[in-house]
Amino acid sequence: MPRSTPVPAVAAPAPRVHDSLVLEPRDVRFDWAGLPLHWIPDEPMATHVINVLHLLLPEGERWFVKVFKEALPLIRDEQLREEVLGFIGQEAIHAQAHQEVLDHLLGQGLDPRPYVRQIAWLFQRVLGDKPGLTPARRRENVIERVAFIAAIEHFTAFLGDWALNSPGLDRAQADPTMLDLLRWHGAEEVEHRSVAFDLMVHLDPGYLRRIRGMAVSGPLLVHLWVRGARFLLAADPGLDGRLKPTWREARRIARRGLLPDPVKSVRSGLRYLRPGYHPTQEGSSSQALGYLATSPAARAAAAH
Ligand SMILES: [Fe+2]
Ligand SMILES: [Fe+2]
Repeated sequence: MPRSTPVPAVAAPAPRVHDSLVLEPRDVRFDWAGLPLHWIPDEPMATHVINVLHLLLPEGERWFVKVFKEALPLIRDEQLREEVLGFIGQEAIHAQAHQEVLDHLLGQGLDPRPYVRQIAWLFQRVLGDKPGLTPARRRENVIERVAFIAAIEHFTAFLGDWALNSPGLDRAQADPTMLDLLRWHGAEEVEHRSVAFDLMVHLDPGYLRRIRGMAVSGPLLVHLWVRGARFLLAADPGLDGRLKPTWREARRIARRGLLPDPVKSVRSGLRYLRPGYHPTQEGSSSQALGYLATSPAARAAAAH
């Protein structure tokens, strides 16, 4: 009898890059009335380096929402479209939550507005919608901005993963409401870490687009963070401009678990450039969902 080559009855399904996401915007509320200015006690440098998040995110995340709304008509995949809508819902609430911290800082005598005005100019003018473009150029402009966001979302997931694994902040007796804000937001960043990347690849699978996104967003983020930390330390009414941020000091604080290590942050950015990279390779969705199941703010939101 002739020997035949065995043929599988059913072809193996193509591997999925991730399971279907159902992203739920959690309408959280935080009460900042009791938040001390240095919410990590006796650690003004660590406090303000993390506080840069509050300076950047309200404008930044409102910009994410605008760009993703502009990208919606370009999406040809129903599942991805649902994920993008969930992402928009989550980021809008993140922006609002960080805005409330900014308002609290102002009430404590630290005026964040001069720096926030610069950030608003960057996101609304430099990176904003460009009226008068042809449809082809407009599409290109939207995809380019989605690529910037995909690279930024790599870092928000990195920071979220760090926040979920930062016992140093608990040891230092950081304010529990601020910790919940950082970990709730961090967990949602880990939860939706694939969406911007998958949207970018859906609109343009080219490697060059990904590289360009990181080449712009990575250095820009470092620059804004350093400037933001300098600004907050100079504007802090209790410090009289005595404290200047340095990389050496940031690494020393990171070793105590109060900040992400700057070297690890840069290495993480380089991983984004690997050809086989996908955001699901970083962080843990089950850890993120585990935190969201116990977060005081997320639980209160779920009970409403
Ligand atoms: Fe966010
Ligand atoms: Fe995000």
